[in-house]
Amino acid sequence: MDPKEAEADFMAQRNNDRLRNLESVWQVTSQLQVSNNPEEVLDIALTQAMIAVNAESGTIWLSDKDGEFIYPYLLHGPNIRGMENLRQRIGEGIAGWVTQNSRSQIVIDTSSDPRWTSWYDSHTGYVTRSIICVPLLTANSCIGSLQVLNKQDDTLFTELDLMLCEDLAALIAMTVEKRGLVMKETVQRETLIHLEEVTKTYQMGEVLVEALRGISIDIYKGELLVILGASGCGKSTILNILGGMDKVSSGKIVVNNRDLSRANEKELTNYRKDEIGFVFQFYNLVPDLTAGENIALAAELAHHPLSVDEVLQEVGLLHKKNHFPSQMSGGEQQRISIARAIIKRPRILLCDEPTGALDYQTGKSILVLLEKIARNSGNSVIIVTHNAAFGTMADRVLKMRSGRLIETINNPFPVPAEKIEW
Ligand SMILES: Nc1ncnc2c1ncn2[C@@H]1O[C@H](COP(=O)(O)OP(=O)(O)O)[C@@H](O)[C@H]1O
Ligand SMILES: [Mg+2]
Repeated sequence: MDPKEAEADFMAQRNNDRLRNLESVWQVTSQLQVSNNPEEVLDIALTQAMIAVNAESGTIWLSDKDGEFIYPYLLHGPNIRGMENLRQRIGEGIAGWVTQNSRSQIVIDTSSDPRWTSWYDSHTGYVTRSIICVPLLTANSCIGSLQVLNKQDDTLFTELDLMLCEDLAALIAMTVEKRGLVMKETVQRETLIHLEEVTKTYQMGEVLVEALRGISIDIYKGELLVILGASGCGKSTILNILGGMDKVSSGKIVVNNRDLSRANEKELTNYRKDEIGFVFQFYNLVPDLTAGENIALAAELAHHPLSVDEVLQEVGLLHKKNHFPSQMSGGEQQRISIARAIIKRPRILLCDEPTGALDYQTGKSILVLLEKIARNSGNSVIIVTHNAAFGTMADRVLKMRSGRLIETINNPFPVPAEKIEW
């Protein structure tokens, strides 16, 4: 090829590349403007960024407010299984480094870069050939990073791809800031309950039912947690164990550095009495007692209970104080049972299918109430349900299947319960 022709070729290529970049930026900009749901906004942005550079997988890492950890807020691509749980200290790993230093990194070819030795993930079998990671920069801080791995066509990332990612990351960060999508003040990470390899087996005549097959998880102080799973997967069993209503078959449950799996009956009773509030699908109110009396009963043995009127006020039913359960709707009875659960100021509120017997609107109002309690009281609220839509309101979602934990999802931007639909 003569030099002139080569130059013309080069210019044409460059022009194409610039057009492609502008096109991508345009796509992302216009899409970001139409959506109001933060989760959707970031989802669109990640998808567009991956299309733009033809990436095989992509991650939006977000930092917690303390600036201590980053975690994958969104993961797209074939290597995501098991990564949801990943937490990386800021400064560590490529995404952690980028977030800390607010500087982009490109590893064009991992096989010829001495810094990267083992990009074969034995866990997922995923081989990383080429990496771009760029910071998500707002006016005054770095809120995380955008990372893409591997070109779909087996070629390697270029400097041009890097520039494109930087532009898109700037747009993403700007959107996050403009929408006021500030991360929650702190991601609470103080462990309240620690479960380690917990199993629960029931003997049914000749048959052993393995309800829990090795659950390890920490429950954090002040979090709103949703446990999701189909009927029979072990949700109620795990809730009963967390609430000290049932004992583990093997494994450990540690609360405040106390091993509850070794506790005697009296200690368990005290634990239930002092620390736990329970809300059931069916409200379990005493039919012969008024709403106020049902609630007062729960306060009797508590150390520092709230007043009956206070909790009735909280659930919006002060005017029903002297009504009997049979004189109240399902939704009202559930509110009373929530009032009964919170009067002793439990540190953990356990709710087993709390909307299971309620219609849509009433169910939603109960979720709004539970959310308010979680946000205002600083207590941990755990909601067990088979309804996947509830997951969006939680700080964290645990998915269960057949007695096992199959997935954990962090939600830095929980959707208000009022807005979720199912
Ligand atoms: N007391 C029990 N005796 C025998 N089997 C039980 C008992 N409680 C639960 N199971 C069994 O354990 C499994 C998990 O039940 P459960 O925790 O109630 O599931 P979920 O609440 O997710 O519907 C199911 O197979 C169930 O039949
Ligand atoms: Mg159940």
